[in-house]
Amino acid sequence: MSSRTEPIKSLLILGASGDLSGRLLLPGVGGLVTAHPDKPLRLVGSGAEDWDDTRWRQRVRDSFATVPASGPRAEQILAETHYLPADVTDPNAWPSLLQACEAPVAIFFALPPPVTAKACQALTHLDLPAHTRLVLEKPFGTDEATAAQLNDLLTRLVPEDHIHRVDHFLGKSTVLNLLGLRFANRILEPVMTAEHVERVDLVFDENLALEGRAGYYDGAGALVDMIQSHLLQIMSLLAMEPPSTLSAADLRDHKAGVLRATHVWRGDPEHSSRRAQYTAGRLGDRDVPNYTDEPGINPASTTETMAEVTLAVDTWRWAGVPFRIRTGKAIGTPRKQAVITFKDAPRLPHGFTGGEQPNRIVIGFGPDTMAIELNVNGPGNPLQIDQTVLQSEFGPGDLPAYGEVLLGVLDADPSLSVRGDTAEDCWRIVAPVLAAWKANKVPLERYPAGGAGPEGWPL
Ligand code: BG6
Repeated sequence: MSSRTEPIKSLLILGASGDLSGRLLLPGVGGLVTAHPDKPLRLVGSGAEDWDDTRWRQRVRDSFATVPASGPRAEQILAETHYLPADVTDPNAWPSLLQACEAPVAIFFALPPPVTAKACQALTHLDLPAHTRLVLEKPFGTDEATAAQLNDLLTRLVPEDHIHRVDHFLGKSTVLNLLGLRFANRILEPVMTAEHVERVDLVFDENLALEGRAGYYDGAGALVDMIQSHLLQIMSLLAMEPPSTLSAADLRDHKAGVLRATHVWRGDPEHSSRRAQYTAGRLGDRDVPNYTDEPGINPASTTETMAEVTLAVDTWRWAGVPFRIRTGKAIGTPRKQAVITFKDAPRLPHGFTGGEQPNRIVIGFGPDTMAIELNVNGPGNPLQIDQTVLQSEFGPGDLPAYGEVLLGVLDADPSLSVRGDTAEDCWRIVAPVLAAWKANKVPLERYPAGGAGPEGWPL
């Protein structure tokens, strides 16, 4: 088995008839081949459903239409793609699946985690073609130990840098813009330290509610669904030291350094975390029931739909700066931002008035924006300090987040994938909070759907 980099020729999607494949993955493929028609790609779908090629091609066509995908490569994929029904937990199913793919192949496990683990187990009975890449969706394990077990299994199949643990937030253009913002000028980076920064808030409040995902969500909850994965990834980019290149090795080493240094604020999950669940309310133009009355949810469920945790990044740069990470579902006014709040000027010269508001950098993740809120002399009275806002729109990237992540897979570049040690570390970081919640040491608050969250929460 060689770890040499070799571009991918085929994408084999397992769980092809499922929701993730139709809603996110195939549109990602469509966006990718429209923007990069030069990339040869054979697409093969497989699933437990007894579909034929006609039904599968219709699904691919429908998903491509949502992008919309166009051009010769999209047409070619639509004409040539095949679907093979298979039980991928059975080693005997694999030879014909692999034969349908031109090597090197990327195998995308769009499957529930236990099925993915069984399918990987089945693969240990085969010799995979050279340069095969394995692509896995979150959640990656259910805690640090199960993530470690899965890592052991996967690295028996292919080298670590051939494993793509997908976190589609790493493909969002503004998330990547964080690196340019921090490391392509001398203005922001020198002040991104504990000497100047009071606190960092990372908020991802959505106006989506459960959206029919009871089966998955009730077992996960907001902390695992959003913070353990996506938001810790963003935090690592916000807090990392400058990497010397954007190569997979440099980028992932630097992210890992941040996450290894991260733990619950003061080691006190009881006072450094909050959880809440939505109750009935009006969200936009629709009525949302109590979370516990949603179809498929256990009426006694204590799963949180909103979570907040304060973390410490114990490095020279960030010692003493709280990183507060918050996410909620069914919030009336969605807000997706990283907010860096600066300490006050050490001393405001006597004679000035005002200047009470903090200086902040606000980075918006959809719409993709940046604002610097700065205390300066305002118009009118020159001795009165006012706040001015310098604002910039980044605009969307060329590719949707899933397209960006898939591009990395096809180029055999794991920069935007989560490395095995990091996946384990993210579970380690949230474990004390999960334990405190399980032991009922943190009350489960309630908030009406369509509101801003429980009393006293909004940042
Ligand atoms: C998913 C979570 O990974 O990310 C969802 O499971 C969440 O609960 C979604 O809504 C948010 O991502 P995006 O790209 O839609 O903002």
